This record gives sequence, structure tokens and C-alpha cells, in this order.
Amino acid sequence: MTTPTIRPRRLRVSAGVRNMVRENHLSPADLVYPLFVIPGTKVKHEIPSLPGNYHFSPDMAVAAAREAYDLGIPAVLVFGLPEYKDEEGSSAWDANSPVQAAVRAIKAAMPDLVVITDVCLCQYTNHGHCGVLKGETVENDATLPLLAKVAVSHAAAGADMIAPSDMMDGRVKAIRTALDQHGYSHVSVMSYAVKYASAYYGPFRDAADSAPQFGDRHSYQMDPANAREALREVELDIAEGADIVMVKPALAYLDIVRTVKDHTQLPVAAYNVSGEFAMIKAAAAQGWIDEKRTVLETLIGMKRAGADIIITYHALDAARWLK
Ligand code: PBG
Ligand code: ZN
Repeated sequence: MTTPTIRPRRLRVSAGVRNMVRENHLSPADLVYPLFVIPGTKVKHEIPSLPGNYHFSPDMAVAAAREAYDLGIPAVLVFGLPEYKDEEGSSAWDANSPVQAAVRAIKAAMPDLVVITDVCLCQYTNHGHCGVLKGETVENDATLPLLAKVAVSHAAAGADMIAPSDMMDGRVKAIRTALDQHGYSHVSVMSYAVKYASAYYGPFRDAADSAPQFGDRHSYQMDPANAREALREVELDIAEGADIVMVKPALAYLDIVRTVKDHTQLPVAAYNVSGEFAMIKAAAAQGWIDEKRTVLETLIGMKRAGADIIITYHALDAARWLK
């Protein structure tokens, strides 16, 4: 009988030793909590496709943001569903729309909580595309000034960080320039730099009422087969002034998170998207997996891949479990 001289199991013998040699750590400080705001007051409705997440009126969003803040989560990411939709998505830059109102209310109540806003047009256009149309084509350059207007209106409401998710070429530069011109040079840009055309966004589109009314997003979001292109997108966004670069979705793209992390000195965010959340929730509801262990394993996997920041619908639960 041969006996091994080198035994990796020696470093797994007890919780104490395992703690000593653990390579990666997950903390509430790594997380960003997404919030969906809708018109009205005193509204808190559970979102069917995102169990445990809610549609909040701006006043009620404050309490949800406070819950995150009290759990040690440093930031919320605000999405809005508007009162009205049109061809251009003009409610996106309306100072009285739910996002702007929620940002004002949250910042007034908790000045230290970082408020990030998603900038896109798809929730606001009557066709559900992320930019303006010419015929059935999503027009890149005509969309840029509109995105810039949305970003400035969010900054005016008090947003600390702007997160453009539209995937138009040149939008980081357009937004950076407009923010600077309007006196918001201190407002940072977390760009959805690497955003794939993904089936994992399904539950979000139900929650945000943002599904395209015809066609799909393949002419602006990335082909899931491409990896080199991710670095090209990251380089462009950095050159245009991005402060943080995001990879989205996370789970099927952890190789991309690692590649991006190795390529840039900027903080890297990973978006644990709605379909990834829904898969765990659905399997856990069937009793097929242990929700807590699966969520924490998934999130530490994203950290291990190189994510500095994780946007996740599990944020409140995870922060509670980590306490
Ligand atoms: C809007 C937007 C989407 C998501 C974030 N911002 C959907 C899309 O691009 O269709 C997806 C988030 C998720 O699935 O959790 N552009
Ligand atoms: Zn969009």
C-alpha cells in the first residue's frame, strides 16, 4: 500500500484551518441591490417573475433601500416603469418620472447610500427597443443625445452613478460629455460594457415591461459566442470614460469576467441577471436544491472569477445569510 506524502486534505480538516486558507470572500459590501420603481404612492407589489422582489412606488422604494443599507449593501440600482411611453422614450428624461422621484427620495433619506441608475430607453419606448427607430432599424447616433439627456436628468435627481445598458456605440462618451457639461463631473459611469443578447433577461423584461414589440436585440447586444469582442467593448468604454466596466449576464460568462478582470485595472462588475435568479428560485421552490447554499456558491463563484461588484436580486437574502 502506498501512502501519499502530500495531502491537500490537511488544509480541509477543520473549519478553523479552512478559514485560514480561504482564497476568496463574499461580503454584503460586494453587492448591489436592484430596485424597480413604478408610478403612484404606497405601492409594494411582488413581481411574479422575480419572487421576493417588488414594484415599489418612489416613497416605498426608500424603505427597501434602507433595508439594503442597514444590511451593509453599499448601493442600489434603480430601474423604472414610466407613466407613458412614446416613440422616443421621452418619459425617461422626465424629472417627474418614477426613477427621478425615487432617486430624490432615497438620497434625501440616506445620503451615504450609493444610488446607481440604469440608463436605457426600452422601458420607455412604445416599441420596446433600447434606441430610437428609423423604420425597423435601431438608430445608433440619433439615440446618443437622448441617452445623454436621461443621464443628466438622473444626475440632477441626485444619482451618484450612471449605468448605461443600451449597447449603442459611443454612448459612454456622449454621457460623460453631457454630465461634465452640466456640472456632474463627480458622477461616475458604470458601463454595461459587455452585454450579451441573452435569453436570461426574460424575467426582467416581464418585470420592466421592456420586451421588444418586434424583432430582437441582436443588432446591438453581443453574440454569446464571442469572447475577444468583449475586450474590444471594454477598451472602447474605458477610452470613452467609463469608471467601472460590467459583464452581463454573469453565470454563463464567468470566463469573460475573468478575461476582463485580467485585462483592466478598473473595477469589474458582474450582473447576476433575472434568469439566473429565477432558475435558483424555481429549483429551490421544488425542493431540488438548497437555496442558501446555492446562492452563496454562485456568488462566490463570481468573486472567484474576478468580479469586484455583483448586482443581484439575491442581495438582501445573501446579505442576511452573510451576517
Ligand atoms: C435594459 C436592461 C435589461 C436588463 C438590464 N437592463 C434587459 C434587456 O436588455 O433586455 C436585464 C437585467 C436582468 O435580466 O436581470 N436594457
Ligand atoms: Zn434597453
